[in-house]
Amino acid sequence: MHTTLHHNQQEINNQLKIFIDEIKKRERSDSHLITILHKAQELNGYLSKEIMDLVAEEMQIPTSVIWGVATFYHYFKLSPIGKYNISVCMGTACYVKGASEVLETIKETLEIEIGETTEDMMFSLQEARCIGACGLAPVAMINDKIYGELNPKKIVDIINKLKEEALEEEKIVQ
Ligand code: FES
Repeated sequence: MHTTLHHNQQEINNQLKIFIDEIKKRERSDSHLITILHKAQELNGYLSKEIMDLVAEEMQIPTSVIWGVATFYHYFKLSPIGKYNISVCMGTACYVKGASEVLETIKETLEIEIGETTEDMMFSLQEARCIGACGLAPVAMINDKIYGELNPKKIVDIINKLKEEALEEEKIVQ
C-alpha cells in the first residue's frame, strides 16, 4: 500500500514539474503562479506543504508567497478532500427552505465541521453560495452532482447510499 502511495506521489510531482517547466518557457512565467497551483490541486487533490515547497523550489519563489496566494483564494484546498465532497448551498433560496437543518444533520451524521474531512477520507463538508439550482432548494452538490429538495432524512439516505457504493467499489478493487 505504501509503495503505491509513494509511487503516486512521485508521479504527481513529476507531472507537476513537467507542467511548471512548460510554463517557465513562457514570458513572465511568475505571473502564472495561480495556473500552476490550479494544476497542482488538480493533480494532488489539495495543496499539501510538500506540493507548495515543490512549486516554490521550481519557480524560485519563497514558500510564504505561495502560501499567501493559496490561502487568499477559497478555491484552493489546504487539506485533503474526501472521496465525496459535499457542498451545502447556503444561498437565500436554500436557506429559507431549510438548508441549515440539512447542514446540521450532515455535521452530526459525519461528525465533522465545515472545512473538515472524515477520518476515513470518505466525506468532506463545505458551504457554498447559490449554485444556480434555486428551483430545487435546498440543494447540495456532492462532487459534481446536484441533489435537490433535501431534508434531513433525504441527506442521511444519500450519505448512506454513497457509503455503500464506496464499500462495493472497494470490494471490486480487492
Ligand atoms: S440559493 Fe441555493 S441554489 Fe440558489
